[in-house]
Amino acid sequence: MKITVRIWRQKNADSKGQMVTYGLEDVSEHMSFLEMLDVLNEQLTLEGEEPVAFDSDCREGICGSCGVVINGIPHGPEVTTTCQLHMRTFHDGDVIDIEPWRAGAFPVVKDLVVDRGAFDRIIQAGGYITAPTGSAPEANNIAVPKENADHAFEAATCIGCGACVAACPNGSAMLFTAAKITHLGLLPQGQPERDSRVLGMVEQMDFEGFGGCTNIGECTAACPKGIPLDVISRLNRDLRSALTKA
Ligand code: SF4
Ligand code: FES
Repeated sequence: MKITVRIWRQKNADSKGQMVTYGLEDVSEHMSFLEMLDVLNEQLTLEGEEPVAFDSDCREGICGSCGVVINGIPHGPEVTTTCQLHMRTFHDGDVIDIEPWRAGAFPVVKDLVVDRGAFDRIIQAGGYITAPTGSAPEANNIAVPKENADHAFEAATCIGCGACVAACPNGSAMLFTAAKITHLGLLPQGQPERDSRVLGMVEQMDFEGFGGCTNIGECTAACPKGIPLDVISRLNRDLRSALTKA
């Protein structure tokens, strides 16, 4: 396929960026989206131009480090991560716009790379347990109701990619934060810090400059792991309960 890509190029956080157009002559439908960018970068390197900076690590949809806005949609037109998107989704002659996550709390580092350190700081503010769990315990040592185990697991599949923030018109991190709070809050080991967790994480989320949630739902639609909106209700319930006790 012949593909034209228009990519956001920005030297560093302080410089002004712009969309730059590149042509690719021989894109296989079997390539992943990131492999297509690898091919472009080889082409740019051979031409003596600076390659496009973008993040990736596992390329298997599990680490959460990849993520760009493709034709206006975080991670592109399929419900998956950018690394798991394939060029067969596109057609010969397509023009594809590729931009970094757009959110005040995710400043651009270079080209398509943004600083998602704000997510790490939200986790540091409460996304952990202190119960000594030792080495891998016998699975049935602590009984967890099936429904809670299922919901906790579903929430734990959040990979911290940030697509929810990029999709939200408010730049809100509620889906991410709520997924972490739900994951730990539904398990017995997560109970001792349940109140301090929600208070700390929500405070940090606000401090980082993420917007508020107004129940638009774009976050869950863009989430490659299908984290449901009801985790936000759970966060709000935990927050109300913790504030009442405080
Ligand atoms: S909730 Fe979904 S979109 Fe948001 S960080 Fe987690 S996996 Fe990514
Ligand atoms: S590179 Fe790890 S999820 Fe995409």
